[in-house]
Amino acid sequence: MTIAPSTLSDAQIKSLAARIDRPIVLVGMMGVGKTSVGRKLAQLLSLPFADADEAIEEAAQMSVSEIFERFGEDYFRDGERRVIARLVAEGPKVIATGGGAFVQEETRELILERGIAVWIDAAVETLVDRVKRKDTRPLLRGGDPAEIIARLKAEREPFYAHAPLKVMSGPGPQGETLRRVLEALDQWL
Ligand code: S3P
Repeated sequence: MTIAPSTLSDAQIKSLAARIDRPIVLVGMMGVGKTSVGRKLAQLLSLPFADADEAIEEAAQMSVSEIFERFGEDYFRDGERRVIARLVAEGPKVIATGGGAFVQEETRELILERGIAVWIDAAVETLVDRVKRKDTRPLLRGGDPAEIIARLKAEREPFYAHAPLKVMSGPGPQGETLRRVLEALDQWL
């Protein structure tokens, strides 16, 4: 992913990186690009990157789908909360969370208290288009992905809105989203 033009200079990115004293936690719907934008953001800011779903899979030695199938969503949410608590306690880094994490009260409180939450939002059509690329999401099985995404987005928006920062991700290249996240952080910190 290349960063979109007319963005912050190297010096501005350095100055921003020096001001980051807490984890940056990306929240928002599945398919919005938290992992790909987060990875690139971490690289630009010279911070470690962690994907919460990957960390859960590593801890459980099982895929997210398998956890849902064998133990159910509540069990997954409990593991997710514990993994995110560990990640946010590790200091400055970029963390991409799964789409439901910030909807859980305890997990949300934890993130709001110890990190800088950035809500990446996108139109339903953009999300539907992006989730088509991966069929590993248990919540999209057994129904029409477009309907499920639209319903979950409507249900979850009031929770995502607790994040102090919000950026939109358009249907185009994610370099633009990355630029918006950097600018939002630069203004906030
Ligand atoms: C979920 C989103 C997934 C994953 C799990 C549940 C959700 O992560 O945590 O399948 O509740 O929206 P992504 O947002 O990375 O797809």
